Amino acid sequence: MNLIQLTDLHCVRYGRQAMGRCETNTLAERALRAVRNFRPRADAVLITGDLTDNGLPGEYELLAGILRRTLDVPVYVIPGNHDRRENFRAGLAHLPGVTSDPEFVQYTIEDLPVRVIMLDTVIPGNPAGEMCARRMAWLEARLAEQPGRPTMIAMHHPPFNCGLNDAIGLRDMAGFTALVARHPQVQRIICGHHHRPVTAPVAQAVASICPGVAHQVELDLGQEGLIGLWNLEPAAFQVHVWLEQPGGPAIISHTAYVDSYPGPFPFQADPESPH
Ligand SMILES: [Fe+2]
Ligand SMILES: [Fe+2]
Repeated sequence: MNLIQLTDLHCVRYGRQAMGRCETNTLAERALRAVRNFRPRADAVLITGDLTDNGLPGEYELLAGILRRTLDVPVYVIPGNHDRRENFRAGLAHLPGVTSDPEFVQYTIEDLPVRVIMLDTVIPGNPAGEMCARRMAWLEARLAEQPGRPTMIAMHHPPFNCGLNDAIGLRDMAGFTALVARHPQVQRIICGHHHRPVTAPVAQAVASICPGVAHQVELDLGQEGLIGLWNLEPAAFQVHVWLEQPGGPAIISHTAYVDSYPGPFPFQADPESPH
């Protein structure tokens, strides 16, 4: 399994820039080309929210065009707080699972070695996220269906505090963590929203935030609770693979950079090397 995660594309209408100065459309297309050229080829691509900057129909139309031009593998998407659910569902209805639930964008991916559950944490008009009673019940029911199958959950808002913009995080993290703890097959939780790489425990699972493919959030841990600043640190995506381990197979996650850097160079031992 080679599952590629991208997040927080923040596409805007043609000719616009996000926040007046970030060329998110160009950065999204560049990242998706890097994904297309990645080897081994992705079995599937997951995009974990904030696909657009304003949730406008023209932004979904532009993104759909970029996806059509760049990828020929299955693409699975969930919304973030910058999306508008009704426009998301209309503009991306051709993607698998997007309209399978009548109210939310939530569905499962069943044809990979790991079962993936895609969640919708959006509160319309609010930058924070939540799993309301209906969404929690849906998740609990899906997890009860296949208790023996290794499972990954994808959601835009991370279910843990990270010291950056936690005021716009997920509400009722304790309830979500308790639900995960009741289902030990949940190995991995992958998220977006904070535009930089972060890893944390959530019950028995490893939870992580993927870097953005456009702007990143400044690592300013002294500003907890305030809305942070952004920068153009290296854009990246993550590659989740299923690898044999001493205790049984597990999901291992790599970070791949969109940009090119000098190298690769062969390792060459110095005469003084200990091996
Ligand atoms: Fe975002
Ligand atoms: Fe977000």
